[in-house]
Amino acid sequence: MELFDSHAHYDDEKFNEDRDFIIKEIYKSGVTKFVSAGYSLESSKKGIEISNKYDYVYTTCGISPNDIPYEKDKIEQELNQIEKLAKENAKVLAIGEIGLDYYWNKDNKDLQKYVFLEQIKIANKLNLPIMIHTRDAIMDTIDIIKNTEFAKPGIFHCCPFNKDLIQAGLDKGFYISFAGPVTFKNSKNAKEIVSIVPIEKLLIETDSPYLSPEPNRGKRNDSRNVVFIAKKIAEFKNMNVEEIAKITYKNAKDVFNIK
Ligand code: NI
Repeated sequence: MELFDSHAHYDDEKFNEDRDFIIKEIYKSGVTKFVSAGYSLESSKKGIEISNKYDYVYTTCGISPNDIPYEKDKIEQELNQIEKLAKENAKVLAIGEIGLDYYWNKDNKDLQKYVFLEQIKIANKLNLPIMIHTRDAIMDTIDIIKNTEFAKPGIFHCCPFNKDLIQAGLDKGFYISFAGPVTFKNSKNAKEIVSIVPIEKLLIETDSPYLSPEPNRGKRNDSRNVVFIAKKIAEFKNMNVEEIAKITYKNAKDVFNIK
């Protein structure tokens, strides 16, 4: 069985001690493709560096709503650099993670929307999908999804369990990526939410090193744990885990345009 982890962060300092070792162990375990996603200019550069070392590691470039610089000039400079990095590096599969986060930042909503929309423009220009981070900003995210044109179907990364959000995404052909929370005992509506996503739009991810799924909750996460997400979704969909692995692998290759 081969698995594709559509979203993790191997530039994170939690991997400073054993990054190369873990990346190789992940591959050996059967997770034969994974994405080390960027969330700031700095992490986008590191993601490119890491992905260039391994055939099976890919990356994304973007400025998350929690990593927007304070100075206006710097924002424009960074947006230009994100575009340049994405354009010049073949391992960059998407613009992300980008979006809105009113949990960590409530005071700059307009600026968050601006930076999100500017990066959607970059993705459209480069014909890349976007990878969306959204937290406590469901209504504004839905509003932007509904009122924006996308060159490629995007991805809701670590998708919140909200039907309207998922429906708005599906209406635009988006893919829905589920992470550790589907395995959490307190995620009461997880089964219902997973059931509304057609299998051809499903992706699985770990968001490593955070959000470890059960039974490893609380420990450092890495892409080997993506199997627990696959198992849970298989249980919810009444399918076997091999089928879920195969379908999500194909979906990831499709959305990221991997030959
Ligand atoms: Ni992430």
